[in-house]
Amino acid sequence: MKKRVALVTGGSGGIGSVIAETLHSQGIIIALQYSHNKEKAEKIKNGKENIHLFQYDFQATDASLVDSVVKQLGSIDYLINCAGIMAEQSIFDMDSKAFDELFNINTRMPYLLSAKAFEYMKEQNYGRIINISSFVVKYGMGRLQSIQYAGSKAALESLTTGLSRLGAEHNILVNTIRPGIINTSMQKDREGLKNRINMIPVKRMGEPHEIADIVKFLCSKKGDFITGQTITIGGGEG
Ligand SMILES: NC(=O)c1ccc[n+]([C@@H]2O[C@H](COP(=O)([O-])OP(=O)(O)OC[C@H]3O[C@@H](n4cnc5c(N)ncnc54)[C@H](OP(=O)(O)O)[C@@H]3O)[C@@H](O)[C@H]2O)c1
Repeated sequence: MKKRVALVTGGSGGIGSVIAETLHSQGIIIALQYSHNKEKAEKIKNGKENIHLFQYDFQATDASLVDSVVKQLGSIDYLINCAGIMAEQSIFDMDSKAFDELFNINTRMPYLLSAKAFEYMKEQNYGRIINISSFVVKYGMGRLQSIQYAGSKAALESLTTGLSRLGAEHNILVNTIRPGIINTSMQKDREGLKNRINMIPVKRMGEPHEIADIVKFLCSKKGDFITGQTITIGGGEG
C-alpha cells in the first residue's frame, strides 16, 4: 500500500517539528515546510529518507507549495497548518504592514493551501486537514497584541467549519486544535512568564508532544469519525 504524505507547515518550529517527527514515526512521508530556519529543518531531517524539506515563505501569494509536494511525493493526504506568528505590537500601535504579515502567515496561506490540497484530496476521496489555532480565540485577547492574533486564528477556525461541511462526503475531515500555553520559543521570552504559568490550572506549560499526540490520533483510523471539531489542549484553560 502506498505510504501517506503529510505536509506539515511550520515544521521548523517548536510544535511543528514534533508533529513532523511524530507522524514520521508512524510511517508517514513528511513534507516539512520552513521559512527562515533552514538549520532547524535540516536538524529534524537528519538524513531521514522520508522527511523532505520545502522552503516557502508565507508572504507568497499562491499555494504552489501544495503542487510541489504532490509533484515530488505523489500525493497530499494530510495537511497540518501549523506555521504561525504572534503579533509584536499592541493593537493600538500596529500598522497595516504588520497586520498584513500576521494575516498572510496565520490566515491567508492556510486558506490557500487548504483549498489547493482539498482539490487533490477530493480526487482520491481521502484527506485530513488540521488547523492549529489558539485558545486565545475563546477570550479574544490575552495581552494587547493578541487581539489581532486572536482574529487571525478565529478566521482559521472558520475555515475548519466550512471545509469540514464541504469535505465530509469526500472523506476529507477537517478539525481545529487550540493549544494553550506551550513550551516553545514563542513563549520563551515572554514577560512575566512565571506568573502566567501560575494562572494555568495545572500549573505548567504544555509540551509540543502533547499537541503532536492529538494530531497523530486525528490522522489515524481512530479519528475517522471526527470532523468539524475544536479540541483545546490547554491544561484547564480555554
Ligand atoms: N507556543 C504556544 O504557546 C502556542 C499557543 C497557541 C497556539 N500556538 C500556535 O501553534 C503554532 C506553532 O507555534 P510554535 O510555538 O511552534 O511557534 P514557533 O516555534 O515560533 O514556530 C513558528 C513556525 O512558523 C514558521 N513561520 C514563521 N514565519 C513564517 C513565514 N513568513 N512563512 C512561513 N512560515 C513561517 C516558522 O518557520 P521558520 O522558523 O523557518 O521561519 C516556524 O516553523 C502557531 O500557529 C502558533 O500560533 C502556539
